Amino acid sequence: MTHIDRSPFRTGLLENRTVLITGGGTGLGRSAALKCASLGARVGVVGRREEPLKATVGEIEKAGGRAAFASCDVRDAASVVAAFDSIEASLGPVNSLVNNAAGNFLCASEDLSDNAFDSVVKIVLYGTFNCTRELGRRLIRAKQEGHVLAIVTSYAVTGSAFVLPSAAAKAGVLAMMRSLAVEWAVYGIRLNAIAPGPFPTEGAFSRLMAGDLEKKAVERVPMKRFGEHDELSNLIAYLLSDASPYQTGDCVTIDGAEALFSGQEFAGFAHLDRAAAKALMTSIKPKK
Ligand code: COA
Repeated sequence: MTHIDRSPFRTGLLENRTVLITGGGTGLGRSAALKCASLGARVGVVGRREEPLKATVGEIEKAGGRAAFASCDVRDAASVVAAFDSIEASLGPVNSLVNNAAGNFLCASEDLSDNAFDSVVKIVLYGTFNCTRELGRRLIRAKQEGHVLAIVTSYAVTGSAFVLPSAAAKAGVLAMMRSLAVEWAVYGIRLNAIAPGPFPTEGAFSRLMAGDLEKKAVERVPMKRFGEHDELSNLIAYLLSDASPYQTGDCVTIDGAEALFSGQEFAGFAHLDRAAAKALMTSIKPKK
């Protein structure tokens, strides 16, 4: 089944949003930045490397949008405060945040060094906390409503072998969004998580796919393809928009049913030719 790109949103859907996107210079963060800007949001991108951030801002401005960048390591709370200050000086008060920056690699857990565990947990869990707390403080102080999204993963719920720091940190992020959805509802701040399956990016695939892993990964997706960036960006836009005012504390999975397939005992039948699957199923008869 091929995906046909449709623009499902009205022009200007996000025109009252100023969105800060962590890791917005590359990969899915960059795609989200371009999408939000195309829908009228002012977009601040932050990340460690200035070059890709600048390029994303350049692309948005070339298309007539408004954007700014700030170099920032989300692990460092002071750097996060400075990034918010810098983005707000260019674009005005931030009211939406996409916690997208992440770190991950495959490694047997007994071989992880202290620093390896620290690096991933600090980017994912501490980074999300630093950014979310900073936006929360600003919104509460200004008595403004706002939105926070966190990009997690389906294994935030189940855990996953060989990516333990990421699994532990993403589970923490999911708990953080759900906790704050209750705590900050009174301030009009909505928080949701998105759990994507495999969406090809250089950052993730260069660290997580090798040999025939990519082929095997696509075979686990009942829709028989990876996700497209536009599909994830559309979900981000929807959750940041006024189209979802009652949705908070949620975790929306977007994975072509990959996680369900992986957890269902008889899911393998779905990958057989349907006539062959039916023949096989009807051939299985209990002995009298
Ligand atoms: N297996 C085992 N340990 C690894 C590793 C791997 N594949 N990659 C990095 N490490 C260890 C390093 O050896 C180091 O530990 P040490 O000091 O004990 O040797 C530690 O992790 C930190 O690595 P370093 O490269 O110094 O950290 P960094 O802060 O520059 O990078 C990472 C952080 C490791 C998460 C890096 O992969 C990164 O920058 N990722 C961002 C992008 C990304 O991961 N995208 C995919 C998201 S799904």
